[in-house]
Amino acid sequence: MTENAKTTNAEITKKYKDFLIPGVITYYGEPLPLVSGKGCCVYDAEGREYLDFFGGILTVSVGHCNEFVTARFTDQARKLQHVSTLYPTLPIGELAEKLAGLAPGNLKKSFFTSSGTEADETAVMLAQHYTGQVEIIALRHCYSGRSALAMNMTAHSPWRTSKILVPGIHHAPAPYCYRCPFHLTYPACDLACARDLEELIKTETCGKIAAFIAEPILGVGGFIVPPKEYFQVAVEIVRKAGGVFIADEVQTGWGRTGDHWFGIEHFGVVPDIMTSAKGMANGVPIGWTIATPEIADSLKGLTISTFGGNPVSCAAAQATIEFIEKENLLAHVRKMGDYFRGLLTELQQSQPKIGDVRGMGLMLGVELVTDRKSKTPDPQSVIKLFEETRKQGLLIGKGGLYGNVLRISPPMTVTKEQVDAAFKILKSAFERI
Ligand SMILES: Cc1ncc(COP(=O)(O)O)c(C=O)c1O
Repeated sequence: MTENAKTTNAEITKKYKDFLIPGVITYYGEPLPLVSGKGCCVYDAEGREYLDFFGGILTVSVGHCNEFVTARFTDQARKLQHVSTLYPTLPIGELAEKLAGLAPGNLKKSFFTSSGTEADETAVMLAQHYTGQVEIIALRHCYSGRSALAMNMTAHSPWRTSKILVPGIHHAPAPYCYRCPFHLTYPACDLACARDLEELIKTETCGKIAAFIAEPILGVGGFIVPPKEYFQVAVEIVRKAGGVFIADEVQTGWGRTGDHWFGIEHFGVVPDIMTSAKGMANGVPIGWTIATPEIADSLKGLTISTFGGNPVSCAAAQATIEFIEKENLLAHVRKMGDYFRGLLTELQQSQPKIGDVRGMGLMLGVELVTDRKSKTPDPQSVIKLFEETRKQGLLIGKGGLYGNVLRISPPMTVTKEQVDAAFKILKSAFERI
């Protein structure tokens, strides 16, 4: 499977270290260079195979080098690669039409960019124009991207690298049941975290807000799943204060959570604006913001994203969506996710370091602690587990404020045999650390 016989792992890593900004972090003590991929597997320069259970950070949604998707975007690349949105093209129009049909409620009008960051920026801008208000509420433990605004909305100190401070952003307590900010237990808590929004708006804002932006499942935060009524309570409070609800589906979109196209659909609330990126085009860069016609129409100024709506990216997104439909992946994700989660929950019985197993569909988090009673985060064990799983040919992700949560999110095409193989490695790695 070695793609380029002349390249070695060491050579690839050296170029990376010599010529990239050091802030571009890599996993593992010794970085793992990759040269090719197929389906749920990736390969290093020496031909070693790894099961990829992080999927390029939930981005390779329908498998590496998926033939169906690749054929469609390469066809488009031969026909027309770029003209900008100053000229209507069929791929952008067809994709926008398809998305207006897939998105919940009255979300009908799209704007395309190249990343999730820009998608979230666009959503905030729309909310501010529509409401005439400025202030934004985001969640603690959230991640919004790497522009100045997005880093100010992000609630993880290590990722707030920008020196530019953006005023008017407030952070509400996260619906993080395992580490409840109010030290309560669901459902006796009566959704204290959601109800706290009322006081937050009264005490930290002018009383009126532009938007509440939230990930249906906090991704970088460590796959934190809110209680099922959380968004109903929170969004009612937000709308009472004049704000709109922005669902950030950058990680949770495209069937990742199983059964539904978008994560928010599990929570019985329809967003006013929705954003996505990552898995939308199986790794081809694209960002997307969709709003109701009233909100979209409120933007009176000019706006353009040079690469946004690029015909090649749009063709890749259209093909990815069609592949998900054709292969009935929404149901498959639920089935594989339930199965995998069952295995992980069973593993928790024999592994005292596993404090919490959570997630939805193929977005599974395993939170490691030094002991279950103190719940002290244990990032050191995650580091050891990473080296062990790598040695045995499995790639997984990590996250959480303390870096102590395993994030498991294989391509949605993963088979039961691949889940079994990955679980076997994970179990063995736990036994060794
Ligand atoms: C929930 C969420 N929103 C926004 C972003 C930013 O996306 P991008 O890195 O494509 O700019 C990310 C990236 O991880 C994300 O997880």
